[in-house]
Amino acid sequence: MPHRENSPKLYIKTYGCQMNVYDSERMSDALAPKGYETTLAPQGADLVILNTCHIRENAAAKVYSELGRLRLLKEERLKSGKPLTIGVAGCVAQAEGEEMLARAGVVDFVVGPQAYHRLPQLIERAKDGERVVETDFPTEDKFEHLPQATRKVTLGRGPAAFLTVQEGCDKFCTFCVVPYTRGSEVSRPMAQLLAEARGLVEAGVKEVTLLGQNVNAWHGEDKSGSASNLGALLFALAEIDGLERLRYTTSHPRDMHDELLAAHRDLEKVMPYLHLPVQAGSDRILKAMNRQHTAEDYLRLVDKLRKVRPDIALSGDFITGFPGETEEDFDATLKLVTEVGYAQAYSFKYSQRPGTPAAINAEQVDEGVKADRLARLQELLNAQSRAFNASMVGRTMPVLLDRKGKHDGQLGGRSPYLQAVHLEATEDMRGQIVEVVIEGAHANSLSGRLAGKDHDAFQTSVLEKGDAA
Ligand code: SAH
Ligand code: SF4
Ligand code: F3S
Repeated sequence: MPHRENSPKLYIKTYGCQMNVYDSERMSDALAPKGYETTLAPQGADLVILNTCHIRENAAAKVYSELGRLRLLKEERLKSGKPLTIGVAGCVAQAEGEEMLARAGVVDFVVGPQAYHRLPQLIERAKDGERVVETDFPTEDKFEHLPQATRKVTLGRGPAAFLTVQEGCDKFCTFCVVPYTRGSEVSRPMAQLLAEARGLVEAGVKEVTLLGQNVNAWHGEDKSGSASNLGALLFALAEIDGLERLRYTTSHPRDMHDELLAAHRDLEKVMPYLHLPVQAGSDRILKAMNRQHTAEDYLRLVDKLRKVRPDIALSGDFITGFPGETEEDFDATLKLVTEVGYAQAYSFKYSQRPGTPAAINAEQVDEGVKADRLARLQELLNAQSRAFNASMVGRTMPVLLDRKGKHDGQLGGRSPYLQAVHLEATEDMRGQIVEVVIEGAHANSLSGRLAGKDHDAFQTSVLEKGDAA
């Protein structure tokens, strides 16, 4: 879209998970035909959308403090005669709906994740002075109504893209709001996904991460009408020329079926890295969480994964201080972490979420105890990820250069194990997958150098000598 001086400006602030990142892009795509240009700060914007997360209490609290700041901006704007429209989208919007309008007078409209295709109309109504709440789960498929990620809208977003394949969750873990904010599991049709992936590749995308709250519960039908699962979808996506790397997140241990393991075994394009949350190591707590598997089931699954793909690196999510968790239960989490060995992990103190069964459990754990356990767990997890990063030094690996570097003359990229890698490289190499010799390991990233001509020449000469001998 050509830049026009007086075209309205849109600022979207995204909280929470990658599905929200994907949704924010779709929202800006849905508003582009109405002339909206996306900006990077709220100051010059005519429309601000907060795409929110409800997963833990502090995630939701951040939204209200941001709304406090926006209230001041909106008041200034009113004085200068350039009105500002403010909308709240995402999971807090879905969970609170009407309540949000009452609590935050600054909000003009509230829209839940299933109604983003209706945004242009909602905004018109809000601009006419109506305070709009749209949190129903509509019967139509929003993805059919939202613009596809095509060449035009995707250009400029870089060579790594998200693709939501599934939304919602039917698992009902007793601590979690997602089944309420995102609704029940819905899978997008395979043909729609293959078409969107082809569009992404045409726009220069080389790596696609399939997204879903429960991504490995995805199911659909292939061309011949046979029932398909995520494994089959990966096999189909791997056929697309130019699509070099595939990832998927977040998986539930109960849905790691054999075809998915086969995809890890047979497809080079499927990256050797898997986010597979376990939450806790005690069977008693896993049961109270309604995870529907034991620690032993999880360990057996990890073994199976490592058999089919020995270099697979794992990451996980953990909760400390779930209601009723004793010191002994917590020790079982530490033990499981020690047995698995994680490359990366996210860990959280249990947070009481309104409307979830665990929130009204009488055995809530003291905040201090939760924090102490979290610190001990993080010490172990951080040591594991430092050791994992350190084990990369001296290795040569393919890195997708997808971003600017920290300094001029540098670019940043991703290793197969999703580590951030920094190296000296020229801007024209952005978007390429290059071989990099890893030279340094830091807390959250790696540094290296291009495995340049010298390196290749060295290898060739060694080989030739070997051949001659
Ligand atoms: N679908 C994914 C995770 C979605 S939420 C799964 O099944 O694993 C992301 C993470 O947030 C969860 O894995 C969990 O570790 C954490 N989380 C969710 N609800 C929480 C709560 N009430 N308190 C603390 N952490 C929570
Ligand atoms: Fe939440 Fe459990 Fe569903 Fe994950 S599987 S989204 S933790 S209810
Ligand atoms: Fe948060 Fe909703 Fe994602 S609650 S983690 S934004 S699904």
